[in-house]
Amino acid sequence: MAVKVAAMLGRRLLLQLLLLAAASDAYGDGAGQPPISRRSFPEGFIFGTASAAYQYEGGAMEGGRGPSIWDTFTHQHPDGSMNGGVNKEGVRYYNNLIDELLLKGVQPFVTLFHWDSPQALEDKYKGFLSPNIINDYKDYAEVCFKEFGDRVKHWITFNEPWSFCSGGYASGRFAPGRCSPWEQGKCSAGDSGTEPYTVCHHQILAHAETVRLYKQKYQAVQKGSVGITLVSNWFVPFSRSKSNNDAARRAIDFMLGWFMDPLTRGDYPLSMRTLVGNRLPQFTKEQSELVKGAFDFIGLNYYTANYADNLPPSNGLNVTYNTDARANLTGIRNGVPIGPQAASAWLFVYPQGFRELLLYVKENYGNPTVYITENGVDEANNQNLSLQEALKDDARIEFYHKHLLALRSAVSDGSNVKGYFAWSLLDNFEWVDGYTVRFGINFVDYNDGYKRYPKKSAHWFREFLKK
Ligand SMILES: *[C@@H]1O[C@H](CO)[C@@H](O)[C@H](O)[C@H]1NC(C)=O
Ligand SMILES: *[C@@H]1O[C@H](CO)[C@@H](O)[C@H](O)[C@H]1NC(C)=O
Ligand SMILES: *[C@@H]1O[C@H](CO)[C@@H](O)[C@H](O)[C@H]1NC(C)=O
Repeated sequence: MAVKVAAMLGRRLLLQLLLLAAASDAYGDGAGQPPISRRSFPEGFIFGTASAAYQYEGGAMEGGRGPSIWDTFTHQHPDGSMNGGVNKEGVRYYNNLIDELLLKGVQPFVTLFHWDSPQALEDKYKGFLSPNIINDYKDYAEVCFKEFGDRVKHWITFNEPWSFCSGGYASGRFAPGRCSPWEQGKCSAGDSGTEPYTVCHHQILAHAETVRLYKQKYQAVQKGSVGITLVSNWFVPFSRSKSNNDAARRAIDFMLGWFMDPLTRGDYPLSMRTLVGNRLPQFTKEQSELVKGAFDFIGLNYYTANYADNLPPSNGLNVTYNTDARANLTGIRNGVPIGPQAASAWLFVYPQGFRELLLYVKENYGNPTVYITENGVDEANNQNLSLQEALKDDARIEFYHKHLLALRSAVSDGSNVKGYFAWSLLDNFEWVDGYTVRFGINFVDYNDGYKRYPKKSAHWFREFLKK
């Protein structure tokens, strides 16, 4: 309101003063954003930070410093399944972690699979390429429900299956690094036109079987809920043509609809069935019934937006998931980025896409309960900065401020979001980018015993939560 008045008077200085005054009411960032605080959100809306065992502690297979959960439970015996018994030390480690969190008033949301499939199962039957994984995954999940379900009330089966399937099996840039010869990844084996779909099909089925197990056997007693975390970009048509509108719609089908359509309708999006044809696995009638509605909530990760530009049909040679949607996805149009580019080349800051994505989920998928399980931005790991300089992350504060405003706007327009987790609590290992970028609200000094220091954004969040 103050903004409108000041703008009508046309007095810039007054405008800034008014904003500063408003910022002292609730927590502003001093950069001209309307204020926002915890009280801007409905009663009971929760806030937290997100982390991942492999990225924080290193995986068991990498000779890392700590356990990565599924591997930990099985890696002491070569079988890879739960038949050989559970690694008691791994269970103790997570019991201690959960107890300590609860003691400190922190409610854990547990993700069972964050891309770290046991090497033994990769060796035995190629991991998620095989339907055998469905039962082994379910057995592992059941161990977690049994051991921790008295205290863990929110379970997430899979983290970002899109990233796992497209990164690991189409481009080949992520583990296990499989792709076709015509993809960038220079993989020794793989098939980018089929494997991403097979692997995600098995993850969807493993998810659905596990949800059924939890609901039938544990939910009544443990009174928790179970969901899956999906990631999606927002897609903006490259131009105002019908063909680019359609390209944007196909792009979101191939990233979000790949999972949301089965989960809400029992089948893949029509665009995928049409364009991928017999390379896309089919759900039997029974599987379709199983998958449909198999969630209490959807976890959603949002980082960025892309333009979508229509591509003509290919000649049917050298097929890959990456071109099946017939959309050329790009963050830059005629030399102009869609939003400021962060340290990661794929990350363009586009807060309005957050609101658009949430309203899209509301309108197309029956307005499910959503938790924002990740949202964040990175800066380069610049060794030349002093510690004091490295802690001044004003761009991150602006990122969070704008995204929380977009989130609030979506919530007031009816989007059923119940909570928000910032990625990430600490700087961490960013997959193929290693330690070159920093996503934390707390700084980790890799050269001095992993000492941690709150960045300016951590203080900003503290104030945000206090108000
Ligand atoms: C298909 O990929 C191979 C490399 O694996 C390349 O030599 C060939 O030119 C590609 N064909 C088309 C039509 O793009
Ligand atoms: C995709 O878009 C980028 C940026 O506009 C362009 O440079 C590139 O040639 C396009 N790729 C295809 C296959 O059309
Ligand atoms: C750090 O300083 C060195 C030497 O001046 C320079 O070559 C390098 O580009 C700098 N690195 C960054 C990330 O700015």
